[in-house]
Parts: sequence; structure tokens; C-alpha cells
Amino acid sequence: MKKKLIIRKKIQNFKKEIYVDGDKSISIRSLLMASQSIGVSRIKNLLYSEDIENTIKSLKKLGIKIIFNKKEWKVYGNGLNGFKYKKNLKIFAGNSGTFARLILGLLIKTPFNIQVTGDKSLSKRDFLRIIKPLQKFGARFESKNGKLPLNIIGSEYIRPINYNEKLGSAQCKSSVMLAALNSPGVTNINAKKSRNHTENFFKFLKIPIKIKRSLKFDKIEIKGERNFNSFNYNIPSDPSSSAFFIVLTLLSKNSSIKIKNVNINDTRTGFIKILNKMGAKIKLSNKKSINGEKIADIYVKSQKSFKGISCPVKYNSNAIDEFLIIFLVAAKAKGVSTFSNLGELNKKESPRLKIGSELLNKIGIKTVLRNESIKIYGNPFIDNLRTIEIKNFLKDHRVFMTSVIAALTFGGKWIISDTDSFKSSFPSFLSIIGNLGYKLEFK
Ligand code: S3P
Repeated sequence: MKKKLIIRKKIQNFKKEIYVDGDKSISIRSLLMASQSIGVSRIKNLLYSEDIENTIKSLKKLGIKIIFNKKEWKVYGNGLNGFKYKKNLKIFAGNSGTFARLILGLLIKTPFNIQVTGDKSLSKRDFLRIIKPLQKFGARFESKNGKLPLNIIGSEYIRPINYNEKLGSAQCKSSVMLAALNSPGVTNINAKKSRNHTENFFKFLKIPIKIKRSLKFDKIEIKGERNFNSFNYNIPSDPSSSAFFIVLTLLSKNSSIKIKNVNINDTRTGFIKILNKMGAKIKLSNKKSINGEKIADIYVKSQKSFKGISCPVKYNSNAIDEFLIIFLVAAKAKGVSTFSNLGELNKKESPRLKIGSELLNKIGIKTVLRNESIKIYGNPFIDNLRTIEIKNFLKDHRVFMTSVIAALTFGGKWIISDTDSFKSSFPSFLSIIGNLGYKLEFK
């Protein structure tokens, strides 16, 4: 039987400077873009998690040479549509929705059928959102109910499309942008705001792209079939991984943390704005811009009290991966917090809105879930004495890490299953907790 993590006491005060692992979104994109470039790209500080391992293995199966040497990854790109592989290829995306959806955009010309599969969690997620626009380009798909496993059969006769992205999904937008790369003519995308790393990559690589921004949507125009050169890229640390240590510090006593060299792209740092509105004082220093991405060091201290928030929906897509950890701060806040229009949160590795609510209920926090919103009745004096078991969360990495932070800050005895789940996005998570002076126990 797999070991469980047992947490019996809160974390003691700490004052530390830490690095978290490389940004997951940018790591996947850097490998995919390098695979389409001409020449050898060199990537430093690539996240080396299970999602990225599956990305690398799959690209190798598609004929891309990738090697690790002297702390950098070398990717030997074959140019646009330069994948080389045999018939009946199978690609395993593991837990990674980002990789599975983005790679499909690059496969719209595949002459042979390619099967894409994933783990149990990914096999429950919606792929129709990506199948529909990619079919408009001319690719064909076979799948049951728009889920994995699916087969893609590309076409020689690809045409550019007009696409309206209404979910605020960067994965859908990016998959179509990558398909546009391999399409003749001009693809037009009208996308609800979401993380913009693919756009930044296109600009950095001088791929013809025009972006017109308005309040809620971006109009993106891409000229396809233009080859581009290989590149060097130094990946910043992941703000989503930083968020766990920011909240750990906020909710602990007499502690402070500095997290170095973190991506602070506005489309990723909605959680900082939300937490600061709730009373946190998260500070950014040493700001710089590298390859079109903003980077800074993040500093935060423990905080005694927080205010409830009626969270503006404009932050939703910019904080989409951080809501679980934000909910812990809402649990400790004075007053009621409301988070609305969060249907997309139930479409993640697990139904996170529902699971987040159940997690808070386990520690005695009242929540009301209605349609796509949650009300959290905060308790500033929360001090858990119960024994809490966390299981059946589809091994969702963010549920696991949120549970660990809750255990370390709210107290009680916690027994947490699927102790490998964090390895899909943040393999250093537990060792950083060890570096903060906490001794972890597994049984
Ligand atoms: C991601 C986009 C988001 C996010 C995921 C990574 C990306 O998903 O939840 O962890 O790298 O594009 P959606 O685009 O489905 O919202």
C-alpha cells in the first residue's frame, strides 16, 4: 500500500529565502515552441515534474531530439510541421491538460492517426472544447463523448479559422494559436482574457502576431506557415507554486519568506491582488522583464487578521489555479467571502470548487455552494482539533498541497493520501517544507 502523510502539529516560525520550481505553463510552452523552431534551443530552469516528463517523452516519440546537459535542456527543432514518426503512434499525456490540449494544435497535419491518452483524472476532462475548433481547421477526431483516449487524424488541406474563445481558457486559446502556426493564411481569435504566455512567446520569437486588447477579450491575429529560429530561454519560477508558500507564511505565526525570481505576469498574479485585498501585504521587489515575461522576488510576512472578500470576477482566470489556497485564507478571515462564476474550477484535475468546499467543511468552516459560486463563512479563531482524512481527490496535486498547508497552519491530526500527487507540478514542494524546519512523517 502507498504511504500516507501524517501531520500532527502546526509548523514553527520560520524566516527563509527560497526558490520554487520553474513555471509549468512556460516550461511546456518552451518545449513545444522549441520543437517547432529551426535549430537547437537551450532551456534553463525547466520545471522537471511528471507533466514535463510526459511532454518530453511524447516529443521524443514525435521525432524531436531532446537532451539534458550542463544544467540546460537542448531541444533540436525540425521547423514547423517537422515531427517524424511511425504509424500507430500513442502519446501519453499523464495528468497534463496543458500538454494534451496544446500538442493537439501541433498535430492538425498529421498524416497518420495518433492516439492521445491520459491518467484517470485527465480522462474525465473535456476535450470537446479543443476538438471543435481544431475540426474547423480540417483535422478529424475520434473520441467517446469528447474525452480521452482520442485519436487525431490530420489533413493536408488545413484552412485558417475565426475562433471565439468564451471560457477564458488559455489552453484552448493556445492550442488554436499553435494550430494557426501550421495553417496557411490568417487565423483570427477573439479570446476571453486568460494567461498570455503563448502570445508572449510568439512576440519573443517574432512570429507574426497582432493583439488588440479590450477590457474582457483580446483579438489575436496570427499569420501561419512562417518558420522561426531556435532560442535560449531561462524559465522563471512558478507563481502558482509560490502561492502555497505565500499562504503558509500568511497563516503561520511570526514568520516571513522571500521567494526569488518568480514570474509575476499580470495574467497569473490575480491571487496576489485578491490576498492583498483581504489584508495581506505581499511585496514585490527586484522587478525585471525577461523574454517578455515580468519577474520579481516576492516577500511576505505572517498576518494576524484577514477581511472577507466579495471577489471581483475579473480576477477569476488570473487566479484560476490558486483558488483552493485562497479559500484557506477566506476560512480564517473575519466575515463571509464570496467567489462567483467559478464553473471552470470544477473542470480541473478534480472538481476543485466542490472539493475545496468539502475540505473547509472538514475543519468546521461553513460553506454554501450554489451553481458556480461559493460562500465561505470565515472564522478568525479557527484552531482545528479534529482528525482529518484527505482521500479520493483524483490525486489532484493542488488538493494535496492545499491540504498540507491547511494541516500545517490550522492544526489537528491530518492523514493525507496520494503522497506522490504533487510531483505533477511542484516536485520540490515537500523538500521546501523540510527546509523550513518541519519534519514530515509518512506511514
Ligand atoms: C494553463 C491554463 C489553465 C490552468 C492550467 C495551466 C496553461 O487551464 O488551469 O493549470 O498553461 O495554459 P485552462 O486554460 O483550462 O483554464
